[in-house]
Amino acid sequence: MKAVILAGGKGTRQYPVTKVVNKHLLPIYNKPMIYYPLSVAMLLKISEILIVVNPEDKPMFQKLLKDGTQLGMKIEYAVQEKPRGLAEGLILAEDFIGRDTICYMLGDNIFYGHNLVSLLEEAKREVETGGGAYVFGYYVKDPERFGIVELDEKGNPISLEEKPKKPRSNFAVVGLYFYDNQAIEIAKKVKPSSRGELEITSVNQKYLEMGRLKVKLMGRGFAWFDAGTHDSFLEAGEFVATVEKRTGLMIGCIEEIAYRNGWITKEQLLKLADELNNTDYGMYLRELATT
Ligand code: DAU
Repeated sequence: MKAVILAGGKGTRQYPVTKVVNKHLLPIYNKPMIYYPLSVAMLLKISEILIVVNPEDKPMFQKLLKDGTQLGMKIEYAVQEKPRGLAEGLILAEDFIGRDTICYMLGDNIFYGHNLVSLLEEAKREVETGGGAYVFGYYVKDPERFGIVELDEKGNPISLEEKPKKPRSNFAVVGLYFYDNQAIEIAKKVKPSSRGELEITSVNQKYLEMGRLKVKLMGRGFAWFDAGTHDSFLEAGEFVATVEKRTGLMIGCIEEIAYRNGWITKEQLLKLADELNNTDYGMYLRELATT
């Protein structure tokens, strides 16, 4: 499986903050936002990642994450000329994906929770072995802000809607989707919605019509942030700060995961630590390498 992270878009909901800096490069507490979805892919042992970016932002992402070799992985970039919608990333990723399956991630979605990795691993395994699409529902009090899934009493999906005025359920579809290779062809056939975007909900809708969409709920033990507004940005940062200070362990530390995955050596980790000087982050990496 390969991963695609969407880090384009205009970020208009966070103007003026995002007028000149892409939101995925802004800090969620002590690291750039893009580290969080990237770390989730790495926790799933996915080492080939494509990041979809705006033309003007590509050099900054490259400066930050390079080609991934420093983390023992491969990172590529695809340019989305205009923010035409989430489904377009699948089309832009066609060559990169080849015949593989896809872990599709929204760059502003942040996840944390006990057993998160095993929950996602199950989805990954199912799509790799049986195909189809696998998405997650999360109970929210403001469903009109999200893509929504309605479930029957057995937990099977019966309808999907993108930002409905009168939502049929409170289950938001989170920005982390697992697809078989068909998703690319499905995305190519998606027509712009009433708001003029190629919606990812339309891709999921097609899988639902084919009887190939599986939905699993993320329960109350999980934290999920869509850091697309000033408030959610702040809340996500405060959450990360609280957990990190309490436990002394970092959330979304890409260097740590690369090391624990065995993708980089102790010496490589120390080199990455040196690049961060005597910051708390650098010292955290140095301590990891020496314990
Ligand atoms: O966060 C979950 C929600 O994300 C889902 O429930 C919705 O179904 C889905 O449509 C999406 O809604 P948002 O309104 O939050 O999407 P947003 O426009 O914020 O874009 C999500 C990410 O994708 C963000 O990191 C920017 C990036 N993006 C967005 C667009 C429109 C792109 O890279 N390219 C684009 O064309």
